[in-house]
Amino acid sequence: MKQLNVGILGLGTVGGGTYAVLTRNAAEITRRTGCAIHVVQVADKNIAHAQALTNGQTDVTGDAFALVNNPEVDVVVELIGGYTLSLELVLKAIENGKHVVTANKALLAVHGNEIFAAAQAKGVMVAYEAAVAGGIPIIKALREGLAANRIEWVAGIINGTTNFILSEMREKGLAFADVLGEAQRLGYAEADPTFDVEGIDAAHKLTIMSAIAFGMPMKFAQAYTEGITKLQQTDIKYAEELGYRVKLLGISKRTTAGVELRVHPTLISEKRLVANVNGAMNAVVVKGDAVGPTLYYGAGAGAEPTASAVVADLIDVARLADATEAQRVPYLGFQAGQLIDLAILPIAEINSAYYLRLRVNDKPGVLAGVTKILADRNISIDAMLQKEPDDNETEADIVILTHITIEKNMDAGIAEIEALPAIVAKVVKIRMEELGK
Ligand code: HSE
Repeated sequence: MKQLNVGILGLGTVGGGTYAVLTRNAAEITRRTGCAIHVVQVADKNIAHAQALTNGQTDVTGDAFALVNNPEVDVVVELIGGYTLSLELVLKAIENGKHVVTANKALLAVHGNEIFAAAQAKGVMVAYEAAVAGGIPIIKALREGLAANRIEWVAGIINGTTNFILSEMREKGLAFADVLGEAQRLGYAEADPTFDVEGIDAAHKLTIMSAIAFGMPMKFAQAYTEGITKLQQTDIKYAEELGYRVKLLGISKRTTAGVELRVHPTLISEKRLVANVNGAMNAVVVKGDAVGPTLYYGAGAGAEPTASAVVADLIDVARLADATEAQRVPYLGFQAGQLIDLAILPIAEINSAYYLRLRVNDKPGVLAGVTKILADRNISIDAMLQKEPDDNETEADIVILTHITIEKNMDAGIAEIEALPAIVAKVVKIRMEELGK
């Protein structure tokens, strides 16, 4: 029987899960592929841990370069993360003519263009299903299942940590900082949670999805990224009163003006399925011109859910290692020479509806002044909520939901509203998405 020899770089959570799934489901995988997928070597700094995990069945090295230079290894599975050492190792593996499977979204979003060019020159595969939304086969869906379509937009909850935090803030009425502590205690958030809570991890994943949705190079440097650290409980509560949930969404849309590529807290109607994705789960909505909106849901992280994607990539490599370039799915789902360098729109040029919260002195004529500014800018009001001041208070909250306008128009309107004497604090602005059409 044919055999595919695998080397795994990094035997942490996902590496351990991959080893376990490959071992447990070996017979089933062979039934699918007609090939034995055999782990010949693993590399990890913690040799004792790796030896214990592999139970003496697999060669363990502490030298990652020994693994990528090992002539027995056909495919290198990179699960160490980061951009520096992982980039060197992946490029070395490619130079050595090995296929690569990686779960590393940061590496691909930032260095993917260089990595795919090197792989193309060498004729090796680079597979990365686990890099976006863990166990959800969204890369397969975008590159293959939806290949008949002109993709119009992609939007998703693609960071489990922040979705867990937002779900807890809504359900328990807690502040961001309190829930972050809980997420860290439960092991959801990293000790340094910056990449998660500032939206950077989501922007990495969105960059990859936009590239394969629209057939363009990775453009992470131009992604607009806004996290959830400034989100206030008050706004989650008001949004809920109006029938909306706040989610950290990665959104990429192809418009006639250019591509929108943005991550930020977003109000979504509670009627949408994606608004009801709670806890650490992920979900992605893709709109194709033929199929319409489609939804993909599942675990976006965790040992075996992520291993499910890594092993599916290994199965693809086992099936296609001997195929010609034309028989394989192109790295970004479009022929390499057919990628289009689409322009990314600055955030001021995107179109969105908005949630605005104004803190005002409760006096006659305040609302009239605000609505006049919006009307003069052709910004239509969709819904409004005014809260009466608490006893002994003279200030009140006004919440306004607008129809769609270009962001620079909204920002200019907000600046005018903030200049009104009755407005006592900066206006809170949160973007809204329809996600239905
Ligand atoms: N930190 C990521 C998340 C893990 O919270 O979703 C998987 O990429």
